[in-house]
Amino acid sequence: MILVTGGAGFIGANFILDWLRASDEPVLNLDKLTYAGNLENLASLQGDARHLFVQGDIGDRELVGKLLAEHRPRAIVNFAAESHVDRSIHGPEDFIQTNVVGTFHLLEETRGHWMGLPEADKAVFRFLHVSTDEVYGSLGPDDVPFTETTPFAPNSPYSASKASSDHLVRAYHHTYGLPVLTTNCSNNYGPYQFPEKLIPLMILNATRGKPLPIYGDGMNVRDWLYVTDHCSAIRTVLEKGKIGETYNVGGWNEMPNIEIVRTVCALLDEMRPDPAGPHERLVTYVKDRPGHDRRYAIDAGKIHRELGWKPDETFESGIRKTVRWYLDNMAWVEHVASGEYRKWVDVQYGERGAVSGER
Ligand code: NAD
Ligand code: DAU
Repeated sequence: MILVTGGAGFIGANFILDWLRASDEPVLNLDKLTYAGNLENLASLQGDARHLFVQGDIGDRELVGKLLAEHRPRAIVNFAAESHVDRSIHGPEDFIQTNVVGTFHLLEETRGHWMGLPEADKAVFRFLHVSTDEVYGSLGPDDVPFTETTPFAPNSPYSASKASSDHLVRAYHHTYGLPVLTTNCSNNYGPYQFPEKLIPLMILNATRGKPLPIYGDGMNVRDWLYVTDHCSAIRTVLEKGKIGETYNVGGWNEMPNIEIVRTVCALLDEMRPDPAGPHERLVTYVKDRPGHDRRYAIDAGKIHRELGWKPDETFESGIRKTVRWYLDNMAWVEHVASGEYRKWVDVQYGERGAVSGER
């Protein structure tokens, strides 16, 4: 089996759903269930013995050690993190605890476990760390996209904490020989994304007739990738990636924020017209994010050349699917927005009884 951390979040849940569609190899899912973790994302796996969920912290060494010894996964895919830049600006502490200290504890337990494995198991074991393009900092309008050798220059507490974890992962390979792989991906979008992030927030607010807050002048550029393409990149790197290497993942899809929001509005006008008028009327420019990175762009040439990966979705196809998904899953959105999903966890898992952090 494989161990996935943070598998109840946006990308982790999509990864597990995709994994179990393509393979019967079981997944042990370790997730703390912070505000961003939502087991409703995995409701379709209810009763599926291939998915084993454990509620817990990647920084809980006793729990991690016990899980590794008991389940002996052949690989770990580490998604668990605090992921929202704005939250890191308001309160960086949790970001340091999970992204830096938590990753360190997870690495330490993994190292101890890996060193004790028989040679054959040791040779095939992998630790894949899922990271972000934000570690590279901000680009000017004419700069070339980030490559794997672009120096780190993180600007927010979030990106600094992810950069720290990337460095630790690298050091565990260099010093101890731990067989690690790292992916640095651009902005994801798609089903199950928590509506604090740009695209789902705009869909949610627009359907409620609420303002669509655009930070600054709306001309900050992000490079968008449909989430299942990120998942397929991670599967590819896990399968074929060279130990110790990092791979940038992106969709060659740079767009200013205001253009993203206009696209979402136009799709909503088509799929669910508002009698009050075009959704774009709700666009509202607000105070900028402090330290707001101007532009991210990923050069995904290495993963394409060396591992043969490329995205399946264009932005046009992906954003259409995404808006459709949110409109078709308003109950999910409402549960998340109201906090109702937390009750769902208790109903679903509470009555089964917790065993030392396991649900
Ligand atoms: P998310 O916030 O939706 O999910 C994070 C998950 O991790 C949640 O389920 C949460 O409960 C869990 N978690 C948090 N702290 C934990 C801890 N201490 N122990 C165990 N579980 C914990 O995040 P996401 O958008 O799915 O991102 C997943 C990973 O991908 C992160 O590492 C993030 O840095 C990286 N990433 C995200 C994007 C993006 O656009 N969303 C792009 C590139 C990389
Ligand atoms: O680049 C990868 C990163 O993308 C991931 O590592 C992060 O986990 C993920 O959250 C995301 O970070 P961003 O800060 O780019 O994403 P966010 O959706 O928060 O914002 C996207 C852009 O939209 C950014 O320039 C800020 C802007 N924005 C965001 C929100 C929430 C707005 O203008 N208004 C908003 O209300």
